[in-house]
Amino acid sequence: MAKQLNIGMIGYGFMGRAHSNGYNRVANFFPELEYKPVLKAACARNADAIKAFADTWGYQSTETDWRKLVERKDIDAVDICVPNNLHKEIALACAAAGKMILCEKPLAMNTAEGEVMCQAVEKAKVANTVWYNYRRIPAVTFAKQLIDEGKLGRIFHYRANFLQDWTISADLPQGGNGLWRLDVAAAGSGVTGDLLAHCIDTAIWLNGGVTNVTAMTETFIKERTHTLTGKVEKVGIDDACAFLCRFDNGSLGLFESTRYARGHKALYTFEINGEHASIKWDLHDLHRLQWFDHRDAGNLRGWRSIHVTDGDHPYMSKWWVPGLQIGYEHSFVHQVADFCESLAKGTPCGPTFRDALETQKVCDAVLGSAKTGQWANV
Ligand SMILES: NC(=O)c1ccc[n+]([C@@H]2O[C@H](COP(=O)([O-])OP(=O)(O)OC[C@H]3O[C@@H](n4cnc5c(N)ncnc54)[C@H](O)[C@@H]3O)[C@@H](O)[C@H]2O)c1
Repeated sequence: MAKQLNIGMIGYGFMGRAHSNGYNRVANFFPELEYKPVLKAACARNADAIKAFADTWGYQSTETDWRKLVERKDIDAVDICVPNNLHKEIALACAAAGKMILCEKPLAMNTAEGEVMCQAVEKAKVANTVWYNYRRIPAVTFAKQLIDEGKLGRIFHYRANFLQDWTISADLPQGGNGLWRLDVAAAGSGVTGDLLAHCIDTAIWLNGGVTNVTAMTETFIKERTHTLTGKVEKVGIDDACAFLCRFDNGSLGLFESTRYARGHKALYTFEINGEHASIKWDLHDLHRLQWFDHRDAGNLRGWRSIHVTDGDHPYMSKWWVPGLQIGYEHSFVHQVADFCESLAKGTPCGPTFRDALETQKVCDAVLGSAKTGQWANV
């Protein structure tokens, strides 16, 4: 019989639901795993809301104070699905209580906080991972395999963007439950920590470390009413950010993110150009990897659209039959599966806190460069 991995979930919003779905599905599709998540308790401040969430997703109990959840003897692992300004305090309490931690991204509000969190989990020797889930979309994992096999040769360029359009209205307030992403005190930064962090994590994973950056940010709407105070307050987040960088392997990077690209809801794309071949990926078509190989016969050369749904593609043998695609939510199932497998093997499940700190460092360098107008070392 599988060993139980008792989960305590903090937060019941977008990610609370995405992760709960991952815990619920994993044993059906990865039956060989030695550990099976059990939804022990869910926590949020509103008792009625968290009870309704617990009933919907199958949690056995609820808490309204995250400290109580962390202290519970029947919880093995705590899942942190709350706004960014709470990650550090909860993670430190979990480490002190010897709990494993699955923490949402970005790891922290800044590098200094993230470093403290890394030291805490390393000292306590508790298993930890950060939900940079795009690594586990089969087409992205496949891109990693192709790069690691050397199929692209030397890498020259890495290009990524993450575009949205939901904050264009000047009437949109900032802060509070639904709009904490617009409040710098809760989010730490705007698109840099929220969206570019994903692009940076994928880039570091696929193409290695970032050496230095030069960036610009803009806050298009300078003041918004704060939901909690009712007053018009200065907006402290970056609405848009673009940066150039050099990677440690000598390649050049170009990144852009905004919440002001009318017509785009969640356009995350990346393109990598190597000596022999290029790769392109698009979240809106997430089961496809575009591949161009200069080594093909000249008269047949062209971009290939690989439908990443075959049994020999990453994770796909676990799902349906070849040719049938899976979606966004499956990346969370995969992260749970990999976490359980790592636990059984006693190996880290990347990205660990320490891995995610690298992304935090790049975000800090980007925001620092945007302020000074100078190149910044990571
Ligand atoms: N991996 C991804 O692709 C991805 C996507 C979205 C969000 N995120 C990250 O996940 C985290 C949560 O984002 P979200 O979109 O789920 O937000 P959300 O606003 O949908 O949910 C936040 C939850 O936190 C709860 N909460 C707030 N303060 C609390 C407290 N003191 N105690 C207990 N619960 C509290 C709220 O009740 C709510 O349930 C953020 O760090 C965000 O950056 C990651």
